[in-house]
Amino acid sequence: MPQVELSAPRPARERGESSNSLTPALTALVDEIDAACADGVTKDRIVAALGRAVAQPELLTAEQRVPQSGCYARHLMYSDPAGRFTIVSIVWGPGQFSPPHAHHAWCAYAVRENALEETLYAWDRESATAQPARTEVRSPGYGCFAHSGLDQIHRLGNSGSRPAISIHVYGVERERVGTHVNRMVQVA
Ligand SMILES: [Fe+2]
Repeated sequence: MPQVELSAPRPARERGESSNSLTPALTALVDEIDAACADGVTKDRIVAALGRAVAQPELLTAEQRVPQSGCYARHLMYSDPAGRFTIVSIVWGPGQFSPPHAHHAWCAYAVRENALEETLYAWDRESATAQPARTEVRSPGYGCFAHSGLDQIHRLGNSGSRPAISIHVYGVERERVGTHVNRMVQVA
């Protein structure tokens, strides 16, 4: 357990979703995540579904592509009626980054548009801090899955000059996305 655990920042903009206006690409993604959850949260299936989804031109509405100043914008795309997962688009303006964090819940993401930068950290139990390990460029089409816990700590963001978009699936209900996904950690 981290010795320092802060409350997760909440992006100012969270848009509501309308379940009767899902694009075909989003419907396909929802169906796959739904099946993956019923199958025990199969991470390969979730990452594959995200990879197919981000390749579909019509995945996002115009509203789900809107950035905001100050902090990355998070737009709700779908919330599972059973509360098992929530899908959001995140629009990263140039220079906008998440804080370094682990996760309280399982989560997955794929890059939709323009590259993201991801720094990975290793948790040092003795000092209870996250140690920077390496930084990677994540190009459109890249996807990954993370379990809850301290063995997968990262920081995501946009070091480019144009807005970047990623699609995220969190293993929590909509109301808990802002408070029960990111697990803040202290960095060495
Ligand atoms: Fe994360």
